[in-house]
Amino acid sequence: MISSGTITKADGLDLLAEFMGVKDEVFALTQQAKDGTMNLSETLEEVLRIINCTPDDVRRFVQQHPPEKRLTKGIVNLIKTLQKRGVAVYMISGGFREDIMPIAKYLGVPRENVFANRMNWQWDDETGQPTRLSGFDESQPTAFNMGKIRAISKIREDHPYNTVVMIGDGATDMEAVQSSQGADLFIGYGGVVERPAVAEAAEWFVYDHDDLTRALKCSKVAMIGIGSFACAAIHLLTQNIEADDQFDPCLKVWVQDPLDEFEGRSLIDIVNTEHHHPKYLPGVHLGDRVVASSDLEWVASDADVLIFCPPHQHMQSITRRLMGKVKREAVAISLVKGMRVGRDGPQLVSQMIRKNLGIDCSVLMGGNVATEIARRELSEAVVGATSSETGQLFRKLFKTPYFNVDIVQDVAGAEMCGTLKNIVALAVGIVDGLGCGCNAKAVIMRQGLTEMRKLSKTLYPNVRNETFFESCGLGDLITTCLGGRNRATAEAWTRAWKSGAPKTWAQLEEELLSGQKLQGVGTSNEVQEVSRAFARLGMSPWTG
Ligand code: 13P
Repeated sequence: MISSGTITKADGLDLLAEFMGVKDEVFALTQQAKDGTMNLSETLEEVLRIINCTPDDVRRFVQQHPPEKRLTKGIVNLIKTLQKRGVAVYMISGGFREDIMPIAKYLGVPRENVFANRMNWQWDDETGQPTRLSGFDESQPTAFNMGKIRAISKIREDHPYNTVVMIGDGATDMEAVQSSQGADLFIGYGGVVERPAVAEAAEWFVYDHDDLTRALKCSKVAMIGIGSFACAAIHLLTQNIEADDQFDPCLKVWVQDPLDEFEGRSLIDIVNTEHHHPKYLPGVHLGDRVVASSDLEWVASDADVLIFCPPHQHMQSITRRLMGKVKREAVAISLVKGMRVGRDGPQLVSQMIRKNLGIDCSVLMGGNVATEIARRELSEAVVGATSSETGQLFRKLFKTPYFNVDIVQDVAGAEMCGTLKNIVALAVGIVDGLGCGCNAKAVIMRQGLTEMRKLSKTLYPNVRNETFFESCGLGDLITTCLGGRNRATAEAWTRAWKSGAPKTWAQLEEELLSGQKLQGVGTSNEVQEVSRAFARLGMSPWTG
């Protein structure tokens, strides 16, 4: 929220008064209003009575004072940078829309984000045209002292923003933080007029908007894991963080096994010098600023955004190792498709991260075969986010022209979809291994989707039905059942069993997946555990 006094070099009402030849009388009044020593609505009424302009005067005034000549240094860049980062910018003014709207338009601030007063006009009965000022619309919050709090509380009612910051130069601006429904932070601006009371009240006082632009956070991103999907995600991420000054272009990546080798060379060295992963996603550039390390704390502790993508079996020990070691204000996203069943019942990976690290956690789920993303083929995913702000942040990190990202505010629903579809994919692989055709496969997939929804709703009653038709649900089910590793390995497992020379899943993971872990087998065991726990209570988890 930016007050007009910090946006323009001279107050709009003062300028209009000068234009109408009544500068001195009006200037004294507007200064008193800004110092907080006068009743605002009475002052405005008096000011308009003195100005006494016609609509035509206003039109000529706006023409003579185009926005580009009136703006304070650095404001265009500050607003553009904030908007590029997905920060909603609002303008608030004790002045009038007639003067403010051209400035808002020039700055790209949407009409509905402008709070200002409105002039009332006398209308000529003969011509049907406005003629003279007859006061102003006193229903606007900006017409009164403490009106900025009212405007901000209205914004907060309509939009669940995490943080609202007020930037202003007047007494009515600093009032904005004087209530729990108002702004969270007041930044004072002294680039036009320095008011001692404002400087005193401000948590931060600046004379130049460029200081604010420079201080905008440059978020550090870290990836925990370096399997094939983690590599595909790194390939997407580095394209975005290298191009956006909101992010530090360096991406730290945690590699679990420091001794992992490829043809006698350390994989960490290969990633750090050649920037690709020859074992899990060969030939795909991971980005010039990728730095791999097996020191988990070094990778995670200074990150503002933590991305988790190790095998789900390792998440409990990873998050325990990181307890108390990550920034309190960091946000996380899990790309892990799996759950854990502990003594307290099932726990999603996002819940585990939230519980063990005490930070917000979203998920990214979708029909995403790593090699196809790496080839830049059309793909999509959803971010299941707790708020639209974090959803937008993660969309910005992962979205590319060939990888679309939608946002759903259903973290558990999206994560349950991504987790459970791996079991259905195993069943489809078994159908293939048995040599059955498409009818049988369709039965497994359709029934699988139905059971995914039922179990999800039993465990997490707030999950939404629609989530199952997003990329994380139906999309991922189709992808995994047609082209995933769970399906292919289950087919091989079934064929081996049929041939009388059965193989273990671990054997097949070594033979077919260079040692990568299948998620479906572990998840199937966990879901069976949930089912048994329900049965012990005489209940079924498939009724949701
Ligand atoms: P697999 O792990 O079975 O390869 O599935 C990949 C996947 O999750 C596609 O979205």
